[in-house]
Amino acid sequence: MKILAIETSCDETAISIVDARGGFAHPTFTILGNQLLSQASMHAKYGGVFPNLAKREHSKNILPLCILALKEAKLFEKSKKTLNINEKERAFYKELLTREHDIIEPFIKLLSQTKKPKIDAVAVTAGPGLEPALWVGINFAKALSHAWNVPLLPINHMEGHIVASLLQKGSSKKEIILPKITFPALALLISGGHTELVLMKDRMKYKKIGSTRDDAIGEAFDKVARMMNFPYPGGPHISKLAKTIKDGSSRFPLPRPMLHSNDFDFSFSGIKTAVLYTIKKIPRLTPKMKAEIANEFELAVTEVLIKKTLGAAQKYKVRTILIGGGVSANERIRNTFTKKITAEFPNIKLYLPTKDLSTDNALMIATSAYFRSLSNKKGAKNTKNIRAKGNLSL
Ligand code: KG4
Ligand code: ZN
Repeated sequence: MKILAIETSCDETAISIVDARGGFAHPTFTILGNQLLSQASMHAKYGGVFPNLAKREHSKNILPLCILALKEAKLFEKSKKTLNINEKERAFYKELLTREHDIIEPFIKLLSQTKKPKIDAVAVTAGPGLEPALWVGINFAKALSHAWNVPLLPINHMEGHIVASLLQKGSSKKEIILPKITFPALALLISGGHTELVLMKDRMKYKKIGSTRDDAIGEAFDKVARMMNFPYPGGPHISKLAKTIKDGSSRFPLPRPMLHSNDFDFSFSGIKTAVLYTIKKIPRLTPKMKAEIANEFELAVTEVLIKKTLGAAQKYKVRTILIGGGVSANERIRNTFTKKITAEFPNIKLYLPTKDLSTDNALMIATSAYFRSLSNKKGAKNTKNIRAKGNLSL
């Protein structure tokens, strides 16, 4: 089946079209179209994602991006004669896209001039994320699903990040396959909005066993980077700086928050404040000092992630660990987990997303949607009920 998936939960507008087959036994995807537009540079001066700007940019870009994806997939075909979109239909789109009013006329024009593409379902991130941003994707997805008369599948962004950790290159560049994993599995989700440990006794069965009590880890990376005058998103800057430090000793020791707490929760607000105090005490912050602080920050958060994740893995006797979310692009985190698990837990298999699939993308939504469609063939019964849910949990 061909799925068109939309992701607009944060600052990336992304649309993917995949051809999915093989069922749960041999899931295989051919990437037909994959488009992504990042707004990161626009949010840089605000030090984080500014929700109304994100919404405006998604509204501006979603339709052109969708056309690009359809063209890439060779599913964009002009109709020979202009089709009539009657008043009732027009009124429907006008109401649905009230808050994305820039799209209404070009969308109706597109419908009247193109053939219905061979798409079997539309999928969209319904949450968690920034609600104004999520709504753009949802309303647009509703419009497409109505126009093409195909089911609409609401997808959880965090499930997307979990599935992303399993996407592997198949026999060609455009083909993606998923390995068969052994349960129980443990997912460590580390992104700009989340830090969670999720136990999976079976596929698509999730139980949150730990989460952050304050800031998410990606947020901490971003804030620490900002303290050193690096623009949003800060994670990659911290990572690059830390790499320049070779030895482990630090002139600027930082705490390992909740390292010894008897649970699987996290906290990253204290370490952020500790970095702030460290910086305040230094009269002239040199590039070398910044690098040392970045390195110590990475060491500290990695140590906590390792301790909590492997503690949970032992307690629940897991056979598989999946790491997902933007922060899983971090090389120190990737390498430390890989080395530790290979050396000390040879019975556990670790899966990490490729770097381009660590951060937000629509391929993870398209692939998750296939699994959702296998368990719920009809899609949403009533698309009216699909709403943006900023705090949607797994
Ligand atoms: O998953 P994601 O793209 O968006 C959310 O769902 O939040 O994650 C974005 C987060 C940002 O905080 C960004 O700084 C962080 O991922 N990030 C990194 C790296 N690349 C992205 N953090 C640390 N090291 C990286 N290399
Ligand atoms: Zn994300």
